[in-house]
Amino acid sequence: MIHSINISEDIYFLGVNDRRTELFENIHPLPMGVSYNCYLINDTKTVLLDSINSSFGHDLVTTIEGLIEGRDLDYFVIHHLEPDHSSEIDSLLRRYPNIKIVGNKKSFSILKAYFGKEDNLVEVEDGDTMCFGKHTLKFIFTPWVHWPETMMSYHTTEGILFSGDAFGMFGALSGEVFDDQVDFSLYESEMRRYYSNVIGKYSGMVQKAIAKLSEIKIDIVAPIHGLVWRTDPQKVVSLYDRWSRFENNNGVVVAYGSMYGFTAAVADYIALGLVAKGVRNVRVFDVSKTQSSFIISDIWQSRCVVLGSCAYNGSMLPTMEALVNKLVHLNVKNKSWAIFGSYSWNGGGVRRLKSVAESASWEIVGDSVEILGQPDKEKLKACDELIDQIAKTLL
Ligand code: FEO
Repeated sequence: MIHSINISEDIYFLGVNDRRTELFENIHPLPMGVSYNCYLINDTKTVLLDSINSSFGHDLVTTIEGLIEGRDLDYFVIHHLEPDHSSEIDSLLRRYPNIKIVGNKKSFSILKAYFGKEDNLVEVEDGDTMCFGKHTLKFIFTPWVHWPETMMSYHTTEGILFSGDAFGMFGALSGEVFDDQVDFSLYESEMRRYYSNVIGKYSGMVQKAIAKLSEIKIDIVAPIHGLVWRTDPQKVVSLYDRWSRFENNNGVVVAYGSMYGFTAAVADYIALGLVAKGVRNVRVFDVSKTQSSFIISDIWQSRCVVLGSCAYNGSMLPTMEALVNKLVHLNVKNKSWAIFGSYSWNGGGVRRLKSVAESASWEIVGDSVEILGQPDKEKLKACDELIDQIAKTLL
């Protein structure tokens, strides 16, 4: 079912909740689901801002027909071409063949490549405005938040920012639509996981977008995933600002890959040592158990990342390799890193971790520790110096 809720006079939120899809972008688990939102302006001209993911059998066209009462849909504004927001285009064009598609030069090249559409296009430039009757939108280009063509629309008189993926989150909505209807603490970690894994690679561009948006007065933030922020729009802008600056909680993530529990024992020893020295916000993860997007979300808000792996065929454990590859891919910044591991004969886990750290130019704290076989009290003392060094970095 598509819910339509007035967010302002003549302006509707249209949203669907997806609790079925296992993996967002076929990568990131969705234990709390995700929502897809779009918006309709029912003015002298009728305007749809983005659409929804077409793969759930929701009838967007019928919902729109009911709201605009038999009139034509005049414009379809595409802020971002990723198919979770644009894939309704065929059904829209079948019902409204004269609809004009509003986008920018870059979005039209993707539109052609993805959907083969080249007709009825209205190209806008950064800063252009379009008036639909009582309602006027200004287009603000925010490239790479999350794709290169991304733009936002700003309602010039009501201060509504139709922000696309920006300021969105994972998590299907449970009856609520607005920020003042929820206990946001239930959603914040899913928003951070969405930010860090989906948008975070482009944090520099998010900073540029936020600087650009500081020139306008935002009364409502209306993203295409998650809550509409009408009471405290600055809160979500501020969260994205913090995350895109890699602001941290001065904590530590200890992530380990362990086959027989030896590396896990070292990880726990390091965590115990850090907390005993007064370090707080320490989180320990087994990379073979906890899916990487959750670990990355915690790493995003931590100051220090301690990675440990057993040796596995002369390298690190593949589940640790997968996490490390993602961290490099996401270009995670402003962290201190430390390395540890265990081995049985020739090693390889620590060696491979050090080699990745060097090529990624990570700032390494202390000397790495590698323990032979079963760690006991004596062997674990090799970690004490590393624990001291990490604690000094943080305290
Ligand atoms: Fe929600 Fe970048 O698509």
